[in-house]
Amino acid sequence: MTGSVSVRSSRLAHLARNFTFSVTGLHKLNSRIDSVPNLYSRRFSSASPTLANSQRPEPGAWLQPKKPLDAVSEERGGGISRIDEDISIEYPEDAGLPRTPIIQGRGGRHFKRTLAQFSLEDKVSVVTGGASGIGLALSQAIVASGSHLAIVDMNHDEARIQAKTLLEQFKSENPGLEKLPTVTAHYADVSNPASVDDAIADIIAKQGNIDNLVTCAGFTENFSAVTYPYDRMQKLWGVVVDGTYLFTAGVAKHLIKRQASGSMVVIGSMSGAIVNVPQPQAPYNAAKAAVRHLAASLAVEWASHDIRVNCISPGYILTALTRKILEENVEFREKWTSLIPAGRVGMPEDLMGPVTFLLSDSARYITGADLRVDGGYTLT
Ligand SMILES: NC(=O)c1ccc[n+]([C@@H]2O[C@H](COP(=O)([O-])OP(=O)(O)OC[C@H]3O[C@@H](n4cnc5c(N)ncnc54)[C@H](O)[C@@H]3O)[C@@H](O)[C@H]2O)c1
Repeated sequence: MTGSVSVRSSRLAHLARNFTFSVTGLHKLNSRIDSVPNLYSRRFSSASPTLANSQRPEPGAWLQPKKPLDAVSEERGGGISRIDEDISIEYPEDAGLPRTPIIQGRGGRHFKRTLAQFSLEDKVSVVTGGASGIGLALSQAIVASGSHLAIVDMNHDEARIQAKTLLEQFKSENPGLEKLPTVTAHYADVSNPASVDDAIADIIAKQGNIDNLVTCAGFTENFSAVTYPYDRMQKLWGVVVDGTYLFTAGVAKHLIKRQASGSMVVIGSMSGAIVNVPQPQAPYNAAKAAVRHLAASLAVEWASHDIRVNCISPGYILTALTRKILEENVEFREKWTSLIPAGRVGMPEDLMGPVTFLLSDSARYITGADLRVDGGYTLT
C-alpha cells in the first residue's frame, strides 16, 4: 500500500471563512434553526379553522415540499455539520509517520500523595497497539503505576525499540530502584485469531500471567461511503472490531482458567457516539460504536468471574497521524477545535490518568462504563 494523505477542501475553506469560532452550543443550535428554510407549508395554530370543501387540501398535502428537494439543497443550512465527501485520507505506511517520542518528565517518583488504590503494583498488563501514539502513552502510564508490561503490536521492531526506551526512561526517572518492571514486546496481527493466540501464549511464557488488558490497536481512514474500498473497510473492521473481540476473549479465557480477577479497557472513540465532520468515515464510526457496546456486553458476561471491562472513548488526540493531517490542512484544526468546548485537541498524556483509574482497584465497582475523554466534544 502506498500511503497518501490528500484532501480537496475548497468547500472547507469556504466553511471555515463563514464560521464563527467562538460560538457556544446555543449559538450553534440557533444558527441551525435559523438556517432551516421553510420547506413545508404547514402552519401551526391553536384555533381550529373551518374550511369550505373546495379549499380543503388533499389528505397529507401539508407534508409535500413546496419545492423539489434538489432545488432547495443549495439554500439549505447545516453547513457546519456537513460531511465533505471529497475528503479522502488513506492510512500511511509506518515509514510515512515519525516515531512517537517517549513522554518525559511526567513519570518519576511518587512524591505526591494519592490513594494506594490507584496503584497497579505487581500486575501484568498488556497493551495492544502499544508501539506508538496513544498505546505507547498508556503503556508508560501503566509502568509508572507499578505494573509489568507486555507491548503487543504488528510493528514488532518498533514494539521492541519502544519497550527498551520506555524501561530506560523509567530507570532514569526512578534512580536506585531495586525492583524494575519487566517490559516485553510481542508480535500480533490482532485481526488474526491464530496470531492473537500465539501472542497471548508468548506473553504468558515471558511474564507468567496476565491481569490487565488495554486494546488500543486500530487506525482510521477517510473515504466517502460510496467510494470506500471494500477491502479496506474489511481490514478496518477486522482490526478494530475483531481485534478487540479476539484479544479480550483470549485474555478472559486465561483469567477464567486461573480463577483470577482482571480489568480490561478497550479504546473506542467519540466517533462511536457522534458523527465527525467534515471528514467522511462511516465504517470507522460504526466500528467504534461496536467496540463500546462490546465492552458493555462483555462486562455483563464476565462480571461473575470478577473481570471488569470498560471503554475509553477519546476525542481528537494529537498523534503522528493527526499531527500530519492537521499540519497539511490548517482548516481542519480550526474546524475541529471550534467544536471542542475545551478549546484544544487532546494529547496522549490526557489518557494516562483515565486508563490507570479504570484498570486499578479504585474503579473496582465500575464495569461496562464508557469514559469519554474528549474535552467536552460530545456534549454540544
Ligand atoms: N488519535 C486520535 O485522535 C484517536 C481518537 C480516538 C480514538 N483513537 C483510537 O486510539 C487507538 C490508537 O490510535 P493512535 O492515534 O495512537 O494510532 P497509531 O497509529 O499511532 O497507533 C496504532 C498502533 O496500532 C498498531 N496496529 C495497527 N494495526 C494493528 C494490527 N492489526 N495488529 C496489531 N497492531 C496493530 C500500529 O502498528 C500502531 O503501533 C486506535 O484504536 C484509534 O482508533 C485515536
